[in-house]
Amino acid sequence: MRKILVAGNWKMHGSRASITELLGDIVAGAGARPDVDLVVFPPFPYLSLVQELALDSAVSWGAQTLNPQPKGAHTGEVSASMLLDFGCRYVLVGHSERRALYGEGDGDVAARFAVAVEAGLKPVLCVGETLEQRESGDTREVVSRQIDAVLDVSGIGVFSDAVIAYEPVWAIGTGRTATADQAQAVHAFIRDKLAAQDDTISGQLRILYGGSVNSSNAADLFACEDIDGGLVGGASLEAKSFLAIRDAA
Ligand code: 13P
Repeated sequence: MRKILVAGNWKMHGSRASITELLGDIVAGAGARPDVDLVVFPPFPYLSLVQELALDSAVSWGAQTLNPQPKGAHTGEVSASMLLDFGCRYVLVGHSERRALYGEGDGDVAARFAVAVEAGLKPVLCVGETLEQRESGDTREVVSRQIDAVLDVSGIGVFSDAVIAYEPVWAIGTGRTATADQAQAVHAFIRDKLAAQDDTISGQLRILYGGSVNSSNAADLFACEDIDGGLVGGASLEAKSFLAIRDAA
């Protein structure tokens, strides 16, 4: 049985005060379900605060992106070793907002994924189609291409310590969740695709669903055979709804 993972992507939200309160409540509630992994992804400036507040708790944390270079003249960027300095265990790569707003292509995503693995961080590879791509029937092709970019650089072996998040772009922040059937179909496609290369790794891989997950739809999604948790945006900014999603697992 794969352990459910519920992850909160806080995007560019929060302040020292709000994160102290939010994380305090999440940490306080975390112990109630040791069978579910909880991870939060704060903005960079709050990693130190999160490390301080979540240390020795059941909550892990990670960063929302990383630069693939080890160091140097990259103003505004953050390296893998810097994330390790702040106790990160996870890092998101290829979030659709990074792809769409900051021009990260499949090659950039693959480079970030490879560097994360090499540094000992668990990458959460985000994939997903736009509404236009879904409506033209290209969902599988898009998701396949996004995963192949990583497989070509890093191979299948690295997926034994990675996570994939299927996040249809049209469901992110829109309140329009994929139905459990729609999500399950893509998750099964991803698992089958990887199984063709390594059955064991594919069977153990956690594939999260993301896109307007909330406390009302989480149970239906998590009940699907190939959905092993959620990558939650808006609903992770309130401890009560984040923990209610966890409780749906
Ligand atoms: P929402 O849950 O706000 O739709 O965001 C999903 C997401 O992008 C998580 O990475």
